[in-house]
Amino acid sequence: MADSMANARTPIVGGNWKMHTTRTEAQALLQALRADLDALAGVEVVVCPPAPWLGDAADALAGSSLAVGVQNVHWEPSGAYTGEQSPDMLVGTATYAIVGHSERRHVFGETDIEVNRKLRAILDANLTPILAVGETLAEREAGWASVVLRTQLDGAFEGFEVCPPTLVVAYEPVWAIGTGRTATPDVAQDACAEVRSMLAKRFTPADAEAVRIQYGGSVTPDNAEVLLAQPDIDGALVGGASLRADAFASICRAAARRSA
Ligand code: PGA
Repeated sequence: MADSMANARTPIVGGNWKMHTTRTEAQALLQALRADLDALAGVEVVVCPPAPWLGDAADALAGSSLAVGVQNVHWEPSGAYTGEQSPDMLVGTATYAIVGHSERRHVFGETDIEVNRKLRAILDANLTPILAVGETLAEREAGWASVVLRTQLDGAFEGFEVCPPTLVVAYEPVWAIGTGRTATPDVAQDACAEVRSMLAKRFTPADAEAVRIQYGGSVTPDNAEVLLAQPDIDGALVGGASLRADAFASICRAAARRSA
């Protein structure tokens, strides 16, 4: 049953470039990704470049099957918030927005309350949220992974009566991000299944079955296939490997094979 349900969800692979690439490198990467992935069926591909290159990304990918995502937003539509960008400003440029990435939480001190505000703003602007959740190594080793995931989900959805129909969740254990230490397929599957069952309790089982859950944390062409074969893993959020067109394309193809 799990397999047939899982196959009903179109896989989604995001490339989170973080604060990498010069403008020239970004343009070359965008061209290469479009050339390689535009014709690929069975997977949604979302490219999330640094904010200064979002316009270039929108231009380079216009009319293709590849979507543009933003890595972070502010929750207000406009105002005196130096250095920030609102979801409203991104309409027409980006269609996806990552929210709650662990680097935002742990490097910039983003709280669950802020994640909740950002999530609402993203939905109000009709962008598609990719909500990132995940525990640290210390939390996992202390046996707190489930509590952390539930707290992050409860915080993100505080006051939500219904499940956002477009919602994408990224399970990204902090200990696996940028470390080369990927979660085993079993650990990643268990956590993604747990996230899905938490969503089922919070909203409805049908909502939870429809939500796409990505795994993120040192995904590479070598481990993508086995991770993406797990019934509750519907795609990947890729950092380091998304900066190489061939590696990212290979992960996208692995995801597309899952829906074939
Ligand atoms: P990584 O990053 O693939 O470099 O581990 C993943 C992420 O931060 O989304």
